[in-house]
Amino acid sequence: MANSKNGQNWDQLRSRFPLLQKKTYLNSCSYGALATEVEASVQRYLDARNENGSDWEYWVGRNEAVRSSVARLIGAKPDEVAVTASVSAGINSLASALRFDGPRNKVVVTDFEFPTNAQIWYAQQLRGARVVRIAAENDRIPLEKFEEAIDEETLIVATAQVAFRHGAKQDIPAIAEIARRKGALMMVDTYQALGTMQFDVKKAGVDFAVGGMLKYLLGTAGIAFFYARQELIEALTPSVTGWFAQENIHAMDITRHSPATTARRFEAGTPLVPNTYMAEAGLAIMHEIGLEAIEHRIGEITAAIKGAATAAGYHLASPLDPAHHGAMITLRSSDPNRLVASLAEDNIVVSCRDNNLRISPHFYNNQADIDHLFRALHKQRDLLV
Ligand SMILES: Cc1ncc(COP(=O)(O)O)c(C=O)c1O
Repeated sequence: MANSKNGQNWDQLRSRFPLLQKKTYLNSCSYGALATEVEASVQRYLDARNENGSDWEYWVGRNEAVRSSVARLIGAKPDEVAVTASVSAGINSLASALRFDGPRNKVVVTDFEFPTNAQIWYAQQLRGARVVRIAAENDRIPLEKFEEAIDEETLIVATAQVAFRHGAKQDIPAIAEIARRKGALMMVDTYQALGTMQFDVKKAGVDFAVGGMLKYLLGTAGIAFFYARQELIEALTPSVTGWFAQENIHAMDITRHSPATTARRFEAGTPLVPNTYMAEAGLAIMHEIGLEAIEHRIGEITAAIKGAATAAGYHLASPLDPAHHGAMITLRSSDPNRLVASLAEDNIVVSCRDNNLRISPHFYNNQADIDHLFRALHKQRDLLV
């Protein structure tokens, strides 16, 4: 794994994350490491409050900067992006704008969903929705299963690009094509993918996309985005809403609801001011390096992890084929909680879900991290199956 490639000096980039000097940090699927410029952005926010007290115009500008930055990252227009408090907030807003009392009342989800992207749709059963969950076959969901599940009664397909339990990656353009052919809407949850690989909402052919800033986008918790394809926006009126969703926020009109004509109609209340600073700084790192270079770098790191795991005879829970997994590589364990705790004693930060040890690198990891991880894993061989 070269330290300088395609104009990137990965060692230098790594040095901007102080945590990495102290820990072998392989838990970016849970929370990204803190970059010095993201840390500095918090101080800028605090300084501005001490200097000016309130500076709403500048703060709203930060929110707009996040909107534009996300739009550029996913190939959308800024007017197609809502800045939300969480992925859940975006999905709830979308769900509230859909009607389930017509001939299309079916929502298709899968075994790969993060709970919120199933629970919110089950909650719509109160409003007439029928939720169908496609079962996985181990670490894969064959496209034929989408062909079977999506039909003329399907209103929306809502599924994850990369599964948080084991890192399996879905073929989102192919699923979106099936949805489109059958007249259904398509929403992708990019949270475990965006920031690790190239993704363009137009090329993928999705109608909606959600993602958040705390993991691979290197920002913070408490800020996320919701993308809606321009042509669909004005026909959707969320009832989960608020004053920042209005066409004219400054109108302060208490006599009516006049939603914005843009994706801002999927927002709600006051922007998440401190979080916008951190999100903007994290997104700037994405643009500085570029998703193509990051994808390539993570491809090298995950290949090294799989190689070391296979050589040691450990059982991968994520697919071996790089076309079918994201940045997270998972190993089967007989006691994953104990394994995570014992690795922590060796200064290694990883996480687990089900019986899987989740190893989730970002561009800032290197071969030394992987060597350290595997030296520690070999000591715990009895916890790996
Ligand atoms: C795939 C995926 N979707 C959604 C979420 C969480 O979304 P929210 O911002 O609503 O907490 C996570 C968080 O771990 C996730 O991995």
